[in-house]
Amino acid sequence: MKKKNRDIFKRVTTKGIFPYQFAFTLLIPARNIILSPRKLIRRLDLRKNYNVLEVGSGPGYFSAEVARIIPNGKLILTDIQEEMLKLARKRLSRRKITNIEYHLCNGLDFPFEDNKFDLIYMVTVLGEVENQEQYIKEFFRMLRPGGVLSISKHAGDPDKMSIEEIKKLVYGLEFKFDKLYGTKNNFTINFRK
Ligand SMILES: C[S@@+](CC[C@H](N)C(=O)[O-])C[C@H]1O[C@@H](n2cnc3c(N)ncnc32)[C@H](O)[C@@H]1O
Repeated sequence: MKKKNRDIFKRVTTKGIFPYQFAFTLLIPARNIILSPRKLIRRLDLRKNYNVLEVGSGPGYFSAEVARIIPNGKLILTDIQEEMLKLARKRLSRRKITNIEYHLCNGLDFPFEDNKFDLIYMVTVLGEVENQEQYIKEFFRMLRPGGVLSISKHAGDPDKMSIEEIKKLVYGLEFKFDKLYGTKNNFTINFRK
């Protein structure tokens, strides 16, 4: 294997931003055994008119199903890698999903107004985020009162944070615990503003 490819592969298995060159591994259907889009949707408790922000969408493994559940609302997909958003756009336009927008993150803040979203969710992302506190503050600002921040993690993610680490981070920033699904290795934890 060439050195460049070896370095990229190393980034899949060690801490840090997941390389877009390996985005195809995030679309392998066997992932459904751990967390399928349907299972995630049951945990998100969505309504048809919800405004939803997905942070770190990658190539959009969960996004199409979420967008379909909110036909009168909107899903905004965000990622820090433009290439990931391109892949997601391709995947979702093939599925003819139109209630969707895309936003390239700067790693610090978001250009959306206060109280805009009913739900903000992320799957196997938080451990990769450099400015976690800043992000959580932004999530709090952008969620409407009573809105939900949902964080999912699953086995195989080298950046995995424990439930306790996530709670510590999020409680320090005014969120209240709402629900916990799954096990300590594969879970979704929801907090409410
Ligand atoms: C392991 S992938 C998971 C992608 C998708 N959530 C999934 O489960 O298929 C993590 C994603 O988070 C993105 N990411 C990392 N740091 C980020 C940040 N600070 N802001 C937004 N996205 C970020 C990466 O670019 C990558 O697409």
